[in-house]
Amino acid sequence: MIKAAIFDLDGVIIDTAHYHYIAWKRLASEFAITLTPTHNELLKGVSRMRSLDIILSFGNIDLPLAHKEQLAEKKNKWFVEYIESIRPEEIFPGVIDLIRNLRKQKIKIGLASSSKNAPRVIELLGIAKDFDTLVDGTMITQSKPDPEIFLLAAHKLGIAPHECVVFEDAEAGVEAAVAAGMKCVGVGSVEQLGKANRVVARTGDFKASDLESL
Ligand code: BG6
Ligand code: MG
Repeated sequence: MIKAAIFDLDGVIIDTAHYHYIAWKRLASEFAITLTPTHNELLKGVSRMRSLDIILSFGNIDLPLAHKEQLAEKKNKWFVEYIESIRPEEIFPGVIDLIRNLRKQKIKIGLASSSKNAPRVIELLGIAKDFDTLVDGTMITQSKPDPEIFLLAAHKLGIAPHECVVFEDAEAGVEAAVAAGMKCVGVGSVEQLGKANRVVARTGDFKASDLESL
């Protein structure tokens, strides 16, 4: 029986995944690397530094750590600029209803985002009160596909992993949920997220009443 729902943020609650993409694309272009949406799928859900390593590997570029830290910081500055204008109206349709309907069914709600900017995004969206716990990129040592982030969220909610369902748009995130022993609803395409128990095109397509059939 499902007792908790754990939501990823970027690409599941709001389209901040797009801002990560355009910021990385801007950085990649400085190295004459053309980042495509296909490349971008590999960056979703993984940490900032891991994303940079993946991008540099596309150009067979090897840099010292100090230089990489500067580049990651630069990308983050752009990302932070882009997200400052986000508004609650940009939350994907049906997401708040889904969360509130789950809560009515006594399901605990967690957020598990690899992003260190998650607290700021949640603040801008004004939805902190909709979550029983928030876990972000500053609280973990291993990024998705490692299950650490979801296990920590479940622990903070006081719910066993097999009683949790994760909502994820990233392949690495679906893998992390499966590795954590949790159910998973993939948000995106079946080709990309086929390891999930169910795949929906948009988060709001999943209804609280669908939990029973997972
Ligand atoms: C994840 C995104 O939520 O957070 C990744 O899917 C991103 O694309 C990662 O790289 C880390 O984000 P940040 O904000 O800490 O750089
Ligand atoms: Mg995501």
